[in-house]
Amino acid sequence: MILTKSVFGKHENKDVYLFSLSNDNNLTIKITNFGGIICSILMPDKIGNVEDVTLGFDKLEDYINGHPYFGCIVGRFANRIAKGKFKLEGKEYQLAINNGSNTLHGGLIGFDKVIWDFKEIKTTTEVGIELTYRSKDMEEGYPGNLDVTVCYTLSNDNELKMVYTAKTDKTTHVNLTNHAYFNLTACNENIHGHQIMINADSYTVSNNELIPTGEIRKVDSSPLDLRKYTEIGETINLVDGGYDHNFVLNNLDAKLISAAKVFEPKSGRRLEVLTTEPGIQFYTGNFLDGTNKGHGGTNYKKQYGFCLEAQHYPDTPNQHTFPSSLLKPGQEYKQTTIYKFTTE
Ligand code: GLA
Repeated sequence: MILTKSVFGKHENKDVYLFSLSNDNNLTIKITNFGGIICSILMPDKIGNVEDVTLGFDKLEDYINGHPYFGCIVGRFANRIAKGKFKLEGKEYQLAINNGSNTLHGGLIGFDKVIWDFKEIKTTTEVGIELTYRSKDMEEGYPGNLDVTVCYTLSNDNELKMVYTAKTDKTTHVNLTNHAYFNLTACNENIHGHQIMINADSYTVSNNELIPTGEIRKVDSSPLDLRKYTEIGETINLVDGGYDHNFVLNNLDAKLISAAKVFEPKSGRRLEVLTTEPGIQFYTGNFLDGTNKGHGGTNYKKQYGFCLEAQHYPDTPNQHTFPSSLLKPGQEYKQTTIYKFTTE
């Protein structure tokens, strides 16, 4: 296995790096310490053709100029918080509003837009990087200094493992995720021909601003029943606007479980997502509009990528029946999520 590091560019007068993690099976994953972004996943298909299966750019400037959260670490709170407000220990906190009247993905300068410190990881079984970031007290309106570590490691099992930990000095809310978009055809076509399976009996119902109403509804007899492999193109048009839903994983005790699998028959590529989180947002790239040109000039059009964002449920700070996202001083936030890549 090989780990290399090169200068990717400069941001705010600091060098930003691109790390390349390769294993013995021809799988190469490139990650930058700007936003902890997975920029590239070069993966063989069933006959060994290596292509990029994630949406991203070749240049740092394209990330800095703005994009729909390609590959990044999302925080301090992934997904939406209604009106950007929550009450904690008797105090009301107002966050930055950046999505209609709500907060999305950590606010104006979330964890996806900051430079992370790094350490390289090389052991006999894996290569990777450890990223660390201190989010200061009241950054984007959140209380407490939060020290976050995200470890990305690649093994010869074709697993990209992400271990997230965080500690705070004041009670706060934390919800971290990775926002990689995948297209297992390497964007030769949209994602409709992919088959998906999600290990969830229910989902959180949301209003037209994608804010949960509080109801948790069974998926039975609906296009959200993805418990068996389903071709995305068969059901996507039965869902208003395409999939953008938080699935309640069958994972009540925070064990590492298989949350979702996606298979693309032409290439024979399969992605499996395993996580300790209670939820996963399945988003089918409904807002991609072709304005972002990525790897090799590829135009990222509507539904040319899907995300599987392991997370706590959206708006948890205002939804007291959802699994809590509170983190108190002395406690440790911990999440493990794995992207596993196979072919058949
Ligand atoms: C998440 C949300 C989507 C969208 C994307 C970013 O997946 O659920 O609604 O905002 O991020 O474009």
